[in-house]
Amino acid sequence: NKGKYEHYMQKEIHEQPESLTTTMRGRLIRGGSSKRKSVLLGGLKDHLKTIRRSRRIVFIGCGTSYNAALAARPILEELSGIPVMMEIASDLLDRQAPIYRDDTIIFVSQSGETADTLNALEYALENGALCVGITNTVGSAIARNTHCGVHLNAGSEIGVASTKAYTSQIVVMAMVALAIGADTISSKPRREAIIESLLNLPGKVREVLKLDQEMKDLAKSLISEQSLLMFGRGYNYATALEGALKVKEVALMHSEGILAGEMKHGPLALVDENLPIVVIATRDQCFSKQQSVIQQLKARKGRLIVMCTEGDAAAVCGGSGRVIEVPLVVDCLQPVVNIVPLQLLAYHLTVLRGYNVDQPRNLAKSVTTE
Ligand code: UD1
Ligand code: BG6
Repeated sequence: NKGKYEHYMQKEIHEQPESLTTTMRGRLIRGGSSKRKSVLLGGLKDHLKTIRRSRRIVFIGCGTSYNAALAARPILEELSGIPVMMEIASDLLDRQAPIYRDDTIIFVSQSGETADTLNALEYALENGALCVGITNTVGSAIARNTHCGVHLNAGSEIGVASTKAYTSQIVVMAMVALAIGADTISSKPRREAIIESLLNLPGKVREVLKLDQEMKDLAKSLISEQSLLMFGRGYNYATALEGALKVKEVALMHSEGILAGEMKHGPLALVDENLPIVVIATRDQCFSKQQSVIQQLKARKGRLIVMCTEGDAAAVCGGSGRVIEVPLVVDCLQPVVNIVPLQLLAYHLTVLRGYNVDQPRNLAKSVTTE
């Protein structure tokens, strides 16, 4: 049931304040007179000790689920102190990469039925690793065959392009990082700040959804482009990859997410006054580096669309180029806010270009063959 919406993708984008709320429900405790804040993940609590002792944590997923894990990687590294590796399921299997008994492998899959991810799970189980699932689907193969895990509780997602599952995945993985790091006294203020920001996140997402008309106007200006680049770094490298994936899969336009730190090592050659480029430059510890990326793109007359923190437009762009201003949240959760305008952009671009939003050409919601 699409309710007042024309498409499931549109509905699912707009229901993110609610889906994030249900993802967090009963799992964040802002407690009592001591004002203690903590995370309770029922599915992980008996395994946290083992996870803390593991030599590495490896994220495995495909598509959007991989991107969500990439967004959560920095905070998991920071709060766990354990090296976190990223693997695309099919690539891990192609390489038959080493997996050890003291590894924790986290399988991320909205559907819980993706064949590549399931094959990687079978491989990791054979190699004796602790296998953790993060899935939206109770009773799915990932949920059944992992040792433990966390359900997203985001509600069913029907649009082939994943939107609300992505933001719920990031939130669940941030909560996993908080749970693993919960025994470290030195990071307590940091963890409490993140929990506070999680509690405010649905409201911030509701605010950023007000950019809907602005993103429709931006889409109109991009309707007949051949290509769109997206530059991000740090927490928002994943935002660039996921924004580009959305544009590619539904709007059927070439789009590429690029790590801004790699700009000089190739992508800069593409820059001219015609190719539109989204630069994500919200406030975090990479901000000054992103400012210099913007300067270098401007020096080459790049056609920029800059995403920045509310109030930063003048400072970041000096009045030229297009700007997308978004509300500020704690750095590690900023990807949840920043992806929303790009989801809206991909949605409107698809509708304006006359393509099928909910069932993009050649794609399936759940890919159950290798
Ligand atoms: C569980 C209940 C929830 C109830 C809550 C009350 C289920 C599905 N969830 O939620 O309805 O309100 O307790 O305390 O009954 N798991 C895996 N692999 C995965 C995902 C999950 O093995 O990929 C396992 C978990 O380790 C756990 C179980 O499935 O044993 C349920 O996980 P989850 O729904 O996340 O747990 P709770 O949030 O505690
Ligand atoms: C398919 C979907 O390719 O599978 C993507 O079209 C999705 O949207 C990918 O990201 C992975 O799916 P899942 O269910 O494992 O997260």
